[in-house]
Amino acid sequence: MQLILDCADINIIRELYKNFPITGVTTNPTLLSRVKREPYEVLKEIREFIDDDELHAEALCTRAEDIVSEAVSIVKVLGSDTFVKVPVNQEGLKAIRELSRLKIRTTATAVFTTGQAFMAALCGASYVAPYVNRIEKAGQDGVKTALSIQEMLRANKFGTKVLAASFKRVDQVEPLMRGAVDAITLSPEMMVKLIENEGTDRAIESFISDFKTLGRDNMKL
Ligand code: E4P
Repeated sequence: MQLILDCADINIIRELYKNFPITGVTTNPTLLSRVKREPYEVLKEIREFIDDDELHAEALCTRAEDIVSEAVSIVKVLGSDTFVKVPVNQEGLKAIRELSRLKIRTTATAVFTTGQAFMAALCGASYVAPYVNRIEKAGQDGVKTALSIQEMLRANKFGTKVLAASFKRVDQVEPLMRGAVDAITLSPEMMVKLIENEGTDRAIESFISDFKTLGRDNMKL
C-alpha cells in the first residue's frame, strides 16, 4: 500500500516528507486556494521537491473537450509523473477515455460508488479515488464502499488502482490498511493522528526517567 500526502503547502510537504514514508502528493482546488498563490507556481515547487514521485492535480473544466486540453496543459507543465484528477460524471468519463487514448494518466476523483469506479476503470483511469468521509457524510458507509471498489477492481483484473481519500478519523483508515487497498492519501493532520498515542508518549517518558537512575541518559557509547 502506498502512502500519499494530501496537501498543497510546500512547507508542510517538505516537513512531513522527512518523517513519513510518503511516495507522492495529492492536491485539490480547495487546498490550492488556501495557499493563495498562483497554482502552477505552487504545483511546480511541489513537483521540483518530490522529484519523480506521483503528483495528482485536478482539472477544473466541466466539458470533456476542455478537461482534455486542461489535462494536456497540466502534464506539459508538471511532467508525465503527474496524474490529472477528473471528477466522475458523464463528461469526466468521456475525458478519462480520451486521456487514456492520449496516454495521459488520470485519477478518477470524487468517487462515491462502486458503479462510478467500475465505469472509470473501464474508461482507463489509472486510479479511482473514493471519498471515504464524504461518502459517510452522505449517509453511506465510506469504508465499505472503498473496500468494495478495491474488490471489484481486483476481481475484474483492471489495471486501475484505488487511491482512497477524504479521511477525518483513524477508524476510517485502519480497515483499509487491513484490506490492503492500493493507496491512501492523508491530510497532514490525519498522518500525525495515525501515529500519535498518549500511551506511547507515557511509555517513552517512563523509560527515560527509569533509565536516568543508572546515571546515564541514553545508550550512546
Ligand atoms: C483527494 O485527493 C482529495 O484531495 C481529498 O482527500 C478530499 O478530502 P476532503 O473530503 O477532506 O476535502
